[in-house]
Amino acid sequence: FSQIGTESAWRIQNTKSIFEAAKDRNIEILYDDAKQKQSNQLKAIRSFIVYQVDVIVFVPIVSDGWDNVLQEAKDANIPVIVIDRQINADPSLYAGFLGEDGFEQGKSAAKFLINKCNNSPKKKFNILELAGTANSSIAVSRAEGFREIIEKDARFNFIHSEDGDFLRSRGKEIMDKIIAKNGGLKIENNSIDVIFSHNDPMTLGLLESLDEHKILPKNTIIISIDAEQESIDALKEGKLNCVVECNPNLGPTLMDLVQKISAGETIPRSTYMQETVFTEDD
Ligand code: AHR
Repeated sequence: FSQIGTESAWRIQNTKSIFEAAKDRNIEILYDDAKQKQSNQLKAIRSFIVYQVDVIVFVPIVSDGWDNVLQEAKDANIPVIVIDRQINADPSLYAGFLGEDGFEQGKSAAKFLINKCNNSPKKKFNILELAGTANSSIAVSRAEGFREIIEKDARFNFIHSEDGDFLRSRGKEIMDKIIAKNGGLKIENNSIDVIFSHNDPMTLGLLESLDEHKILPKNTIIISIDAEQESIDALKEGKLNCVVECNPNLGPTLMDLVQKISAGETIPRSTYMQETVFTEDD
């Protein structure tokens, strides 16, 4: 199992869920933490091939660049399951995908926003977007799903979008920079009315920055994705308006797929997790 790292509470829970489910079924895991580098993942997958493991599972940090290593796994007759994030590769090179639907998550975030704004006297809303890791399928699909809904509504305008790499430190850094440059929660003379953040750590970093600058974002709608405990607490305290769930507990379903493949059965091309949306009204 090649994991990408420990960048978020989501990621830590994702790894834990997989280890727990494997233990329950007496499945042994050979593990590698890629420390956020695709090159480490490629090395790890190649070492799994040398070990002749029964199944390779990996979280692709970015979408491209997997064809050669997948071909090597196929040549060695080792099935591969892609989890959490999707890849751009020939589908015949891997057995299937298990994970979350980033596009739906983005759409859910946008639907909440539209509903909320329908009750507002304001006519125009400027959006700041904190984006996840560039070229990762999950950041791309969240951005696309959100835009699919928002772009049909002339009230909304993206004022700034920046890659925060799914990291808390980057969320804080981006907000610190905006405040320092513009003298508050605004860009030039335009207010930031909406913050759409692709994950909780970036959101929590951003809230930390606002807190340090003693800025109370009471006129800004803040929407996040993941639903880790700290952000649910922030939602309860009224610091966030909406948290779209991203379910990290892939372990049990993954082990079902691993056992099916090991028994020579085929698995579905794509399996998606069930997810919900938590709002200030809940
Ligand atoms: O790929 C899932 C995303 O990666 C989660 O939203 C985020 O917290 C994690 O780092």
